[in-house]
Amino acid sequence: MAISFRPLAVTDLENVVRWMLDDDVQRWWYPKGTSETEIRAEYEPSTQSESHGLHKTARYIVDVDGHDIGLAQWHFGDYPEYASEVQSSGSAWVDVLIGLPEWRNRGLGSELTSQFVHEIVFADPTIQRCAIDPDPENGPAIRAYEKAGFRHARTYRSETDGLSAYLMVLERPLPKIT
Ligand SMILES: CC(C)(COP(=O)(O)OP(=O)(O)OC[C@H]1O[C@@H](n2cnc3c(N)ncnc32)[C@H](O)[C@@H]1OP(=O)(O)O)[C@@H](O)C(=O)NCCC(=O)NCCS
Repeated sequence: MAISFRPLAVTDLENVVRWMLDDDVQRWWYPKGTSETEIRAEYEPSTQSESHGLHKTARYIVDVDGHDIGLAQWHFGDYPEYASEVQSSGSAWVDVLIGLPEWRNRGLGSELTSQFVHEIVFADPTIQRCAIDPDPENGPAIRAYEKAGFRHARTYRSETDGLSAYLMVLERPLPKIT
C-alpha cells in the first residue's frame, strides 16, 4: 500500500468534519459533543495558503492508494507551558488519526506514523525528536506508536487541560556512517 501526505485544503473539510464526528475519534481527540461548527472553525484556517506560516500546526491529509483515510499534523514544540510539562523542550509534536473504522487495525496507523515522522517532520533538520501523547487508555494508539518506533517516556496529568497523557518519544536516527 502506498501512503502519501498532502497539505490540508478547503475541499478536505467535509471529510475532516465527518472523521472528527466518528465515535472513536471523538473519544480520544475531542470532548464528546464537539460540534461541526467548532471543528470547522479549528481546521479552516489551516487551509488558507496566504496564512501558512502563521499557524503553528501543519496539517496533512493521509492518502492510501488514492483513498483519503485520515489526518496527520505536527507542530514544533514552541509552547513553553507544554515543554516544561513533558520535560521535552525542542521536540516536534505529532498527532494522527484514521477517520473511518474500516481502515483501522490493519497496520496502517503504525506505518503512516513512521512515514510521516521520517518524511515530513524530520525533513526539518532542526527537529531532533518527536513526541506523541495518547491517552493512557488508548491501547491501539499506544501499540501503533510503539510499532512506529516511539518509546514511553512518562505518564502525566496535564495542568493545562487536566487530561492524562502517555508521553512517547522517537529520537531522530543517527546519520549512517559511510
Ligand atoms: C490510533 C490509530 C491511528 C492507530 O492506527 P491503526 O491502523 O488502528 O493501528 P495499527 O493497526 O497499526 O496497530 C494497532 C495495534 O493495536 C492493537 N490493538 C487493537 N486493539 C487494542 C486494544 N484494545 N488494546 C491494546 N492494543 C490493541 C492491534 O492488535 C495492533 O497491534 P499488533 O499489530 O501488534 O497486533 C487509529 O486506530 C485511529 O485513528 N483511531 C481513532 C483516533 C485515535 O485514537 N487517534 C489517536 C489519538 S492519540
